[in-house]
Amino acid sequence: MNLIESIEAAAALPRERSESLPAGAYCDPSFAEFERTEIFRKEWISLCHISQLRTPGDFIRVDVAGEPLIVTHGKDGQIRVLSRTCRHRGMDVMPTGFGHPDEGNRRVILCPYHLWSYDLTGKLVGAPEMQQAEGFDRSEVCLHAFRSEIWEGFVFVDLSGDAPPLAGKLEDLRSGFLGKWDLASAEVVWSAHWNCEFNWKVLVENFMECYHHLGAHRKTLEPFLPAKGCWTEPCHPHFSAMHLPLKEAMRDEIRSAGQAETAFPVFPGLGIEDCLEWSIYLAYPNCLFFNAPDRAYWYRILPTGPETSSLVTTMLICPEAKEIPGYDAILQKEIQAGIDFHMEDMEMCTATQRGMKSAGYAPGRLSHLEETIWQLQKYLAAMIQCSAAAKS
Ligand code: FES
Ligand SMILES: [Fe+2]
Repeated sequence: MNLIESIEAAAALPRERSESLPAGAYCDPSFAEFERTEIFRKEWISLCHISQLRTPGDFIRVDVAGEPLIVTHGKDGQIRVLSRTCRHRGMDVMPTGFGHPDEGNRRVILCPYHLWSYDLTGKLVGAPEMQQAEGFDRSEVCLHAFRSEIWEGFVFVDLSGDAPPLAGKLEDLRSGFLGKWDLASAEVVWSAHWNCEFNWKVLVENFMECYHHLGAHRKTLEPFLPAKGCWTEPCHPHFSAMHLPLKEAMRDEIRSAGQAETAFPVFPGLGIEDCLEWSIYLAYPNCLFFNAPDRAYWYRILPTGPETSSLVTTMLICPEAKEIPGYDAILQKEIQAGIDFHMEDMEMCTATQRGMKSAGYAPGRLSHLEETIWQLQKYLAAMIQCSAAAKS
C-alpha cells in the first residue's frame, strides 16, 4: 500500500479500530507538497483576528503555502489580504531576514529593491525615476489582493479564489458551538510566534485530543480538565468539536453557587451550563480554538516544510475583562499559565516528530479520547478524493 492508500485505509476504519497514520504523513516531501497545493492553496486559511488590525495602517505579515502575504487595515477602513510580491520586478516587499516585524503599523509599504511604495490598500503611491517609462500610469498599479472573508472576527484567505463561501461552510460550527462566545467582539490580548520542528498535523492532533492530559499535562490541565470524561461530537465535513467537562467537584460547586469563579469575566453569551466545561474546535484544516468560559485560545499553525511549521498562539477575552480590578497582574498570570501548558505540548510534538524518522515507528491504536485524530484522517481522505476527482 502506498502512503495515500494507507491514509485512505486508516480513515475508512471504524472508530473503535482507528489507528495513527504512517510516518510518511508527517515527513514525506511529496505528501507535504500535496497538502500545500491541494489543501493550503485551496481551502480557507485563517490568518489573524480583527482586533489585531484595529487602526488604519495596522498590518500582519504571514506566509501561506509559499505565498508571501500581508493583511492590512487600509485608510478606507477595509481589511485586505494583499500579496507582498512587488508589481515592479517581483521582490517580496517585506522579505524574511530584513528585520521586518510580523505585525505593526505603517503608512506605506516600501519595496527595498527600487523603492516603489504602496499604501495599505495596495495602491502604488510612489515609483522613482519612472518618468521616461512610456504609458506607465502609477494609478493602475496595485498589489494583488487575494479573496478574503471575515468569520467570527477572524480574517481568512482563499488563495484559489474559488473555494465555496466560508460562512456557509462553518455555519454549523458557529450556530452549534462557537457563536456563543461572539469572538468578533473579543480582543486578542496575547500572541506569540513559534518556529516548530514538527509537521503541522502533529500539533493539530495534539491540540485536538485530550488523552495526553494524563501524561503531558499531568500537573497543569489534568487536575481540572481530566482526560476521562472528555467526549467528541460526531464527524462533520468541515470541523471537529470536543467537550472537556471540568472535574466533577468543580462542576458541583459552580452549579450550587450559580456562577463560576473565573480569572476574567465570563463571555456574556454563555450560560451556567457553558461554565461546566472547556471545549476544543478545529475548523479544517488548521484553525484551532481552545475555549473556556472566560477566554479563548486561538492557534494558527501553517506548514513551512514537511517537518517544520510556523505557529501563532493567542488568547482572546471579552472587552469588559479589561475593566476588572488588577487586570494587568491577572493577565500576566493567565498568559504564563497558557505558556506553561503550551511548552508541555511543544516538547511532546517535537519528540513525536523525531519518532517519525525511527525504524521503530509503526501506526499505533488510538483511544476513544483521540476520536478527533480519526476525524482529521477522514478530512485528509476527503481532500485526497476531492483532488483525484478534480484531476480525472
Ligand atoms: S522589485 Fe520592488 S521596486 Fe523593484
Ligand atoms: Fe496539550
